[in-house]
Amino acid sequence: MERLKGLILSGGEGTRLRPITHTSAKQLVPVANKPVLFYGIEALVEAGVTEIGIIIAPVTGGEIREAVGDGSQFGAEVTFIEQAEPKGLAHAVLTAEEFLDGSPFAMYLGDNLLRNGLSRLVETFKRESPDALILLTPVDDPSSYGVAELDDDRVVRLVEKPKDPPSDLALVGVYLFSPAILEAARGLEPSWRGELEITEAIQDLIDQGLQVRSEVVEGWWKDTGQLADMLEANRLVLEEIRSSVEGDIQDTRIEGRVIVEPGAVLRGSVVRGPAVIGRGAVIEDSYLGPYTSVGADVEIRRSEVEHSIILAGAKVEDLGTRMEASLLGRGVKVTRTEGLPRTLKLLVGDRSEIEIV
Ligand code: TTP
Repeated sequence: MERLKGLILSGGEGTRLRPITHTSAKQLVPVANKPVLFYGIEALVEAGVTEIGIIIAPVTGGEIREAVGDGSQFGAEVTFIEQAEPKGLAHAVLTAEEFLDGSPFAMYLGDNLLRNGLSRLVETFKRESPDALILLTPVDDPSSYGVAELDDDRVVRLVEKPKDPPSDLALVGVYLFSPAILEAARGLEPSWRGELEITEAIQDLIDQGLQVRSEVVEGWWKDTGQLADMLEANRLVLEEIRSSVEGDIQDTRIEGRVIVEPGAVLRGSVVRGPAVIGRGAVIEDSYLGPYTSVGADVEIRRSEVEHSIILAGAKVEDLGTRMEASLLGRGVKVTRTEGLPRTLKLLVGDRSEIEIV
C-alpha cells in the first residue's frame, strides 16, 4: 500500500468548552502541560505517518499554526488547511481533498487522546487494506454516541445516538480510509444538525458493499471536548508521569510523582502528585493536590488547588477554600481579600462558569 497521509481535525466551534474556545483553540488546551493536539501529532508520527494535514478554523487557526509550526519539532511535515465553517467531519475531509491527493489516510480528531496510539491500527489497515477501518470502544451509555453493529470485525451498520443500541461499541475519533470515502462524502446531504456526517459517509461505503472493518481500542480513549473529560484526560496522563524535579524547592514537601520544570519556585508548600508544575511558576504557602497541571508562569499563593488545569500566567491567591475540578484560562486571576462586607467582585468574560460551593 502507498504511504498513508494523516489528517487531524482541529477546526470546529468547541461550543462545549466555552469560554476557553472564544479566544483559543480547544485542541491547544494543555493536558499535563502539553497541548492535546500534540499527542495526536506524536501518535501519527509514531505510527509512521509524517505527512500530516491539519484542518483549522479561521479564528483559532493562527494560534494552531504558531504552536505547530512546520511540524519539524515532531518529525512531521505539516500542511494547514483552513475550513471556512465547521460543517462536519465529512466536510472537513472534502476540504482536504487537494492535500489528500488520492492517498489513503488516517483521520484523527484533534481533541481526542488515545492511550496506546495508533500504530497497531495503521498496521492492520496496511495489512488488510479495507476501504475503512474504524476504532471502537465499549461505553456505558451507547445512546449518546455513534454506535457500530458488527458481524465479527466487519461493520454492518452505524447508528448515530441510537435509542435502542445494537451494541455498546462507540466510534472513537480515529479512522483509516481509502480514497473511496471522498466520493461517499461528496454524495452526502447535511444532517439534522446541518453537518456532513462521517458516520453517514462510512455507512455509504457499507451500502456500496465495500469493506468496513473495526478494531476495539486497547487502553483508554478520551474525547476532551468538555470540561469533565478534559480533567479526566489530565488525570489519566498524569497517572503515568515519572518524577523529575528541576525547579527551586524551598521548605516544601513533595509526595508522589511530580514534575517541576526548570525555573519554577516552590516555597513553604505541600505538593501531592501526580502533578506537573510549569516553567517559571511560583507556588507559595500552598497545597497542590493530585491531578493538577500548573502552566508556565502561574502564581499560586496561600491556596489549595487539586484536580485542575491552570493555564499559563494565571494567578490564584488567598482562596480560603479549596479549588478543585477547575480549568482556568490564560492570565486568569482568582484572589480573595479579607474584610467586611464579604462580597464577590467579578470581572468575568462571556459564558464563564463560576460555581461557589
Ligand atoms: P466536535 O467536538 O464534534 O465539534 P466542535 O469542535 O464543533 O465542538 P462542540 O460540539 O463543542 O461545538 O469536533 C471533533 C473534532 O473535529 C474537533 O477537534 C474539532 C474538529 N472539527 C473540524 O475540524 N471541523 C468540523 O467541521 C467539525 C464539526 C469538527
